[in-house]
Amino acid sequence: MSELNKIALKILSNGKGILAADESTGTMTKRLENVNVPSSSENRLLFRETLFSSESMKNCIGGVILYDETIKQTANSNKTIPELISSSSAVPGIKVDTGAKILAGSPEEKITEGLDGLRERLKEYYQLGARFTKWRGVYSISNKYPSKLSIQSNAHALARYSALVQECGMVPIVEPEVLMDGKHSAEDCFNKTSEVIKKCFDELMLHNIDLTGIILKPNMILAGASSNKKISSEEVAKLTLKCLKENVPTDVPGIAFLSGGQAEIEATENLNFINKHNDTKFIMTYSYGRALQQSALKFWSKNIKDIEGTQKIFNHRAKMCTLAAQGKWSAELETK
Ligand code: 13P
Repeated sequence: MSELNKIALKILSNGKGILAADESTGTMTKRLENVNVPSSSENRLLFRETLFSSESMKNCIGGVILYDETIKQTANSNKTIPELISSSSAVPGIKVDTGAKILAGSPEEKITEGLDGLRERLKEYYQLGARFTKWRGVYSISNKYPSKLSIQSNAHALARYSALVQECGMVPIVEPEVLMDGKHSAEDCFNKTSEVIKKCFDELMLHNIDLTGIILKPNMILAGASSNKKISSEEVAKLTLKCLKENVPTDVPGIAFLSGGQAEIEATENLNFINKHNDTKFIMTYSYGRALQQSALKFWSKNIKDIEGTQKIFNHRAKMCTLAAQGKWSAELETK
């Protein structure tokens, strides 16, 4: 078993999942302003530290994705943030892309940037304690999109990023996110996501990536957010599993879904059905941002000093997601 494979399994095994707390300062500012909290670096740290020192860090959260600002911050306990995360035996990770920019040649689409100088930045993050990384490619669905150009160029960037990350001894999360925005059907989402994931693996293999040492972070197969043809969790699970079985090489140890704008319970229920029906060898778990943090953030915004109360809400959400990652969740457990 390679070192990279061991790190991936440590993050994902036993129903554990990933807390995506890597919102850029711009995104975090929007999230905080939405709940009327000023977005100072102290407030961003306070909320995140509250989550990172909660009980569920031991039993539910296998890895935390950080943002550049947070990985360099020090917690109240005087531990650095990576030390705080490691002390509960979770693995610190870091978002290393520098964001999605307009794709020259197809200006309605995006290409993710951040390759220049990446080798040097990775060395610094490794020294700060990171053992895995994230890079997100983003694709929207419409009649014309995603174009071949966006599918090809984002796959190429994801593969070049992955090669540099593995060279530096860390596990790359490969995140091709086909967005929920739009009126498209689940079938469109299935077709486009299949094409996107297939191209990602073509490029990863071309760049000699050790597939046993990556984590795939895809979207689930859903109808568009404005579609009037929503599908059941059972159907989400069937289509998602079909897409992954057809396009992900079996060497990949695990798949950690993004929530992508799904409500907390919706994202939990869909993951639960995926695991109930999982007839693959892939671990199927969560790497949620909004679907893990939303209700904790809402509570905290009104009770900024109530660390315990905030942690209680976060612990519940993380526990529900971890049950779903084992196919053991049920709606009744939400109210217990
Ligand atoms: P969401 O779960 O809120 O989609 O965030 C996950 C993530 O890391 C997006 O890049």
